[in-house]
Amino acid sequence: MQTTYQMFTETIVPSDELIVSRTDLNGKITYANETFAQISGYEIDELIGKPHNIVRHPDMPHSVFKTLWETLERGEMWKGYVKNLRKDDGYYWVYAEVSGVYKEGVLVEYKSLRAPMDDEMKAKMQRIYDELKNKEENISRAVIYMQSDVVEKIEKLAHEKKRSPDDIINEILNDTLF
Ligand SMILES: Cc1cc2nc3c(=O)[nH]c(=O)nc-3n(C[C@H](O)[C@H](O)[C@H](O)COP(=O)(O)O)c2cc1C
Repeated sequence: MQTTYQMFTETIVPSDELIVSRTDLNGKITYANETFAQISGYEIDELIGKPHNIVRHPDMPHSVFKTLWETLERGEMWKGYVKNLRKDDGYYWVYAEVSGVYKEGVLVEYKSLRAPMDDEMKAKMQRIYDELKNKEENISRAVIYMQSDVVEKIEKLAHEKKRSPDDIINEILNDTLF
């Protein structure tokens, strides 16, 4: 489980700028432009050399990325909608086009160009990805509203046990249900 209470803040992708990144053939970031750094909340230096799943959001089904890599391995362009995780646990949605970078006919890297999405498409893709995660991974996305004093107790306990609030909530659920 992922801490939910930091994850509701959306960063809006500007329509006049492109988020650009390139990776090596294993998906490690080799280039990130300033817009990518700004939108994801990282410094460019923090992104270079990291696996691109540094911005992977837990709402994204595994099968989407499986298809992405299979498409790239066939030498084709993958186009799709991605919800990404910011460094501060917020999120941003993009429409992405990922494809190979060739030098003298040889595949050397992959590149991704991203554009903003409208709110209707974001809502539609959230529903589709929720259903996919449910079908493929048996995971349901749940939003929990808790009294503030309950949240405080969980956070205090997490701090004392040097665990994450998610771990504590999982423990309580496991103890109660199983
Ligand atoms: C050029 C390129 C760009 C990518 N961009 C993203 C991205 O913005 N967000 C993301 O979650 N995965 C992106 N990926 C896919 C990741 O490499 C990775 O497969 C994905 O995050 C799933 O992580 P996992 O394999 O650890 O489950 C990109 C891959 C490539 C080749």
